[in-house]
Amino acid sequence: MDVTAIIMAAGEGTRMKSNHAKVSHKILGKPMICWVVDAALSAGCSRVVVVVGSHADEVRALLSGSYPADAPIECVEQAERLGTGHAVRVALEATGIDAGPVVVLNGDLPLIQAQTVRSFARTVSADEAAAAVLTMTPPDPFGYGRIELDADGAVARIVEQKDCTPEQAATLTECNAGCYAFDGAQLAAHIGEIGCDNAQGEYYLPDMLEILRRAGEAVTIYHCDDYRDGLGVNSRAQLAELTAVARDRVNARLMAEGVTFIDPAQAWIGPDAKVGRDTVVWPQTHLIGACEVGEDCQLGPNTRLTDTRVGDRCSLDETVAIEAVVEDDVTCGPRAYLRPGTHLLDRAHVGTHVEIKKSTIGEGSKVPHLSYIGDTTMGADVNVGAGSITCNYDGKNKHATVIGDRTFIGSDTMMVAPVHIGSDAITGAGGTITKDVPDGALAIERTEQRIVEGYTERRRARL
Ligand code: UD1
Ligand code: CA
Repeated sequence: MDVTAIIMAAGEGTRMKSNHAKVSHKILGKPMICWVVDAALSAGCSRVVVVVGSHADEVRALLSGSYPADAPIECVEQAERLGTGHAVRVALEATGIDAGPVVVLNGDLPLIQAQTVRSFARTVSADEAAAAVLTMTPPDPFGYGRIELDADGAVARIVEQKDCTPEQAATLTECNAGCYAFDGAQLAAHIGEIGCDNAQGEYYLPDMLEILRRAGEAVTIYHCDDYRDGLGVNSRAQLAELTAVARDRVNARLMAEGVTFIDPAQAWIGPDAKVGRDTVVWPQTHLIGACEVGEDCQLGPNTRLTDTRVGDRCSLDETVAIEAVVEDDVTCGPRAYLRPGTHLLDRAHVGTHVEIKKSTIGEGSKVPHLSYIGDTTMGADVNVGAGSITCNYDGKNKHATVIGDRTFIGSDTMMVAPVHIGSDAITGAGGTITKDVPDGALAIERTEQRIVEGYTERRRARL
């Protein structure tokens, strides 16, 4: 489908009271602009033009960090923000688009569905109308442009909230969602006719509909069955409101797919996460980004995974994991911290107050209590005693630790890297291991213990 999407994301977002671009604010861990770009791409748009302006660099960086370099996304700069009509004019001038179906989307419209965008594009490409506009009837229409119909029930014009008479504000309840489809030729021919004689002194894109009607063109209304698809974000309160809607939708889908939630209102799972059936999600669980969790797992309570993959039958209790890979039958936590590059193989156990970074923990190996393991390759069935640490950093460089299979690391062992501890080896509790340990050996590094008999009694007599 040769449809161009123009996404308007240049506005100041004043009502957010933020130092960041409005569209950079996240819903379930994903920036608002990416929700809208995703909808355009999954609808099959072949070209996505994002109009940037306020905090342009931040928005550009978000896009280039979120999509591959060959994604059909380009940015156009609207240096002066003179309104949505101006934003589209700038986009048309910069790209030279003057034909074909064009879908225009507000950048603050994160819950728009790809299916809606697709149907929209069809409306105009099938030559049924020169323009179509998405409308909704939210419980509170305040702030939205209101649809005014003519005697035939067709859209006559859109009246912005600030331009409404009190009567219009009270009686016009159907609202403009900020999603439009245009015949590109008609759009380009008439965009210059939008004026700015209104309460805000801005060029309003919604005025295009009245202009096209006056030019004798047909304009269609497409009413959203679920008004929530068309909700916009202008304030922090609306950001929270849409986050709750998005959360409920994702969780409802996952429940339909066989995931159990102890309380679906207390789990925030991003739209791109996958969770397998019979997995139980406990309260205060967050899955951010590209997470993939297998079947029969227990997530949480208090677990936060970012871009992490988890196999089947794992339990992640109070675990924070970032860019980690967890295979099958692994148990973590409570209070485990898995940092980027962590790879836990089948049946591994990472216990309480344990931090792992850029390390492989072999099959069936255990790091149960109070440890830091970094830059380490650990074999199978190793047991790491409480309080053991890999001293991987000398203040300047990071060094590797290698531990073989079935080795027993005594409690409170300091492994000063680079160091290699073989298979079937043992380190004595409290040792600082600075030299390699051969297979099957005991490494003990400890001063002799002295016994001073009768000491307590003599001390008491002195005091
Ligand atoms: C807009 C519509 C309103 C509709 C509502 C739906 C106009 C004039 N009004 O109002 O009818 O009900 O959306 O949510 O369009 N932007 C630019 N450049 C600009 C101005 C805005 O790129 O010069 C972008 C903003 O970043 C935003 C989008 O356009 O993503 C909409 O602008 P916003 O100011 O939020 O418009 P609303 O007042 O919400
Ligand atoms: Ca808005």
